[in-house]
Amino acid sequence: MRIITLRPPAFLASLTLLVAAGCTQLPKTVVVGTDADASEGCVVCVEPHAARIGAEVLARGGHAVDAAVATAFALAVTWPEAGNIGGGGFMLVRESSGDAAFVDYREMAPAAATPTMFLDAAGEVDAHHVRLGFRPVGVPGTVAGLWEAHQRYGRLPWSELVDPARRLAEDGIVVDVALAGSIGGAAEELALCPEAAAIFLDATGAALAEGARLVQLDLARTLGLIAQGGRGAFYEGPIAGRIADDAEKRGGVMTRSDLAAYRAVVREPLVGSYRGFSILCGPPPTSGGCVLLQALNILEGFDLAAMGASSADELHLLGEASRRAFLDRARWLGDPDFVTAPVDRLTDKAYAAELRASVDPRRATPSDRLAGDLEGTLPLEGESTTHFSVVDRDGNAVSNTYTLEESWGAKTVAAGTGVVMNNEMHDFNVTPGRSTRTGRVGTAPNTIAPGKRMLSSMCPAIVTRDEDLILVAGSPGGRTIPSTVLRVVTGVIDHGLSARAAVDLPRVHHGLYPDRLSVEGAIDPSTRADLAARGHELRAREAQGDAHVVGPGARVGALVGAADLRRAGAVGAVSVD
Ligand code: DON
Repeated sequence: MRIITLRPPAFLASLTLLVAAGCTQLPKTVVVGTDADASEGCVVCVEPHAARIGAEVLARGGHAVDAAVATAFALAVTWPEAGNIGGGGFMLVRESSGDAAFVDYREMAPAAATPTMFLDAAGEVDAHHVRLGFRPVGVPGTVAGLWEAHQRYGRLPWSELVDPARRLAEDGIVVDVALAGSIGGAAEELALCPEAAAIFLDATGAALAEGARLVQLDLARTLGLIAQGGRGAFYEGPIAGRIADDAEKRGGVMTRSDLAAYRAVVREPLVGSYRGFSILCGPPPTSGGCVLLQALNILEGFDLAAMGASSADELHLLGEASRRAFLDRARWLGDPDFVTAPVDRLTDKAYAAELRASVDPRRATPSDRLAGDLEGTLPLEGESTTHFSVVDRDGNAVSNTYTLEESWGAKTVAAGTGVVMNNEMHDFNVTPGRSTRTGRVGTAPNTIAPGKRMLSSMCPAIVTRDEDLILVAGSPGGRTIPSTVLRVVTGVIDHGLSARAAVDLPRVHHGLYPDRLSVEGAIDPSTRADLAARGHELRAREAQGDAHVVGPGARVGALVGAADLRRAGAVGAVSVD
């Protein structure tokens, strides 16, 4: 097996902070690296400042949710392409008692949204307005979701969790190689929004380079208001006013009352099982949990361990299982407040056995043969969501994935707020009734309606066995997300791998349409040739997803944090001296 190593972790072992011991007897140190013991608590995410801030909260005795809130606000400053307060996501919480909740803070369509709002006069998708400016902005859910989670689980004061992010925005951070690359990749479109350009580009209009200082004063003010005023400051106060005014000026449909009406929803997690392990994940409006459980149920009938990790036999089956789950995704799934999906049946073992019977272990099944009347897919998505995993010393766990949809969302900053706005409306099926093999899904469950949440693929997941915490996982990557999580989960369960080895396993994805298997660069040529000989059209990609996990360490029963190094990544861990 080959391991992917894309970027040397330059900050490794470079940050060691002494944290005030508070009322505890021993001084606690926060260490930031790429791998760390999780027994005293850790935060695993894409960026080291945010990992450190989250771990400091744990060192002060915070609950995993406190650390998650602090990390999420910090990432809005330090990883602005996806960390956000202008987007939305999902937080799966499992306490050491076994109680679990799924906080749905997905964005909602504004009241004035219509099913065809992104079609031009010729009935084609308006490529600009579906992605850029204020039109594709869904009502943001992040502040409401973090607030809701904190109300339920928080131990430390809210303002103390927001304030570190505010200070980072005010003092500025040094742009590192990953952030410089991210800004550079979006610079042309960020330049279309003067507010965004003023923050992320230099005076000549070029992207801030590595080594430059990124100071975000408007965002610092916004975070200061949220630190003091909580949820209401964002949805009902001056921030809402600024966002709504700017939306009106710039062709959006989101209003002050859309913001005031936004609510996060706490749902029951989806619970499945796989080879004796319990799998907790999310119900609609994300498809991630259904797809993951369906794929696992199909795979349970095959002996992946005997095939060997990353063998052609195994990768073929991972693809075939996902292909089938993605068909049901398109047929059935959407916002549960608007459509009733047969989630119990889709995640049922007997149904998986029916699907399994159609899998040929030696041949790819053409998607057309399975899909019948359903053609199509969504446009390919990038990697620009972000996931983080947290455990605290009591064994409470948080798996959080949140997003602006595309990298840098709508490439739009609401005037005077510093808030990068999402383009999540893009996740609806924007061509109602019209699907194409290479282009889009137009199926009904996920068409636009006022107040509706757009279907997601995000898949925060937590695995337990006999009540013991085994794995906390998730990833960005649009529709590849459940496939990435599936790879990590099967790596740990079927192959008995450590968190590090499971994260490093090469990944594949099949999403029904386009009818092709995407394969990471680390999959060797002979395995690729074997997959192609089974009838898969292969699409090579350098890297899929960015899974920051807590999972098994080398020692039996020990948990470690393992950052995915495909992009950047850091573990902030507490240790007791
Ligand atoms: O909710 C979703 O599934 C997508 N908006 C996630 C997007 C993503 O992971 C990366 N994006 N382009």
